[in-house]
Amino acid sequence: MSLLVRFTVIGGPSSEQLARRIATKLKSKYVGCDLRVFPDGEGKITLRSRPAGKIIVVQSVYPPVDSNLVRVLALVSQARKYSAQVYAVIPYMGYARQDREFLPGEIVTMSLVGKMLKAAGATRVIVVDIHSMMALKHFPIPAKNATAIGELARYFGKLSLHDPLVVSPDMGGLERARNFASLMGLDYIALKKHRDRRTGEVSIKSPDHSEVRGRDLILVDDMISTGGSIVKAAEHLKRQKCGRVYASCTHALLIGDAEKRIRKAGVAKIVSTNTIPGRTSLVDVSSVIVEAIEG
Ligand code: R5P
Repeated sequence: MSLLVRFTVIGGPSSEQLARRIATKLKSKYVGCDLRVFPDGEGKITLRSRPAGKIIVVQSVYPPVDSNLVRVLALVSQARKYSAQVYAVIPYMGYARQDREFLPGEIVTMSLVGKMLKAAGATRVIVVDIHSMMALKHFPIPAKNATAIGELARYFGKLSLHDPLVVSPDMGGLERARNFASLMGLDYIALKKHRDRRTGEVSIKSPDHSEVRGRDLILVDDMISTGGSIVKAAEHLKRQKCGRVYASCTHALLIGDAEKRIRKAGVAKIVSTNTIPGRTSLVDVSSVIVEAIEG
C-alpha cells in the first residue's frame, strides 16, 4: 500500500493550511499533527497517521521562532523514520538575517540551523524568498529558494493604480524591485536606508525623488518585521507628494503594532503571502513551492 504513495505532506502547526494546499496540488497524502503545549512552554507533537513515500514537512519558522524551529526539527526527525527522502519546506525561514558576522562576536545562527536540519534528517530544504542568498549557502544539504515575486506582482497587476512605480526601501532590495517591476512592465527606484546595527534604528538617507510626485507607489521588500523600514520609506515618499503607497512583501511578521504604524504612515494596503498566515496574507505561495518540489 505504501508503495503507491508518491509523496506525503506533513502540515506542521505553523503552516497547516499552506501544507494542505501543497498536498492537494501534488495529489499526495496529507498527514496533520496535534500540538500540545505544556505549562512550561514545551511542545509535544503527534502525527495523526503514518506518512509514506517521499515526505515533505511544511513548517514556517515565525514567532515563536525557537519553538517553531524545534517543531520543524522534531517533524523532520520523525519523518526520517518512514522515508529516506525528507524535504523540509520552511516557507519563512527565521534566523536568515543572521547570515554573517556583522559585528565582532556575533554568531552566524543560520549556519547552526542548517546543521541542525541536516542532523535531524532533512535531505533537502526549500524556502521562499529567503532574506539573502548568503543565508542559503549555510545549508550543508541541497537548498532551494522559491520566489513569490511573480505571484505578488500578479496580485498588484489586478489593482487599478495610477502611473505606478516600484520602490525598494533599501539598496539591498534593488534586484527584487527590478524583478517585480519587470514582471509588471514598470520602472523602479531604490531608496538609501541606514540601519544602526546596535539600536536597529532605521533612517532614509535618500535625496528627493521628484519622479514619485503624483504616482502610486508599490514598496517591495522581502519581509516586514517591526515595520520600521516601511514606515520610514512611506513617510519619506509622502513628503514628496506621491500618490497612494502600497506595501508588498513575502513575509509579514508585523510585530507588535507594526500594522497600525504602517497605516498611520499613510500606507493604503499591505499585501503579503501565506508563508506567514495573517490578515495581510492575500497571496498564495503553494504553486511556487510545488514547482520547487517537483523541479
Ligand atoms: C532588511 O534588510 C529587510 O529586507 C527588511 O527590510 C527588514 O528586515 C524589515 O524589518 P523592519 O520591518 O523591522 O524594518
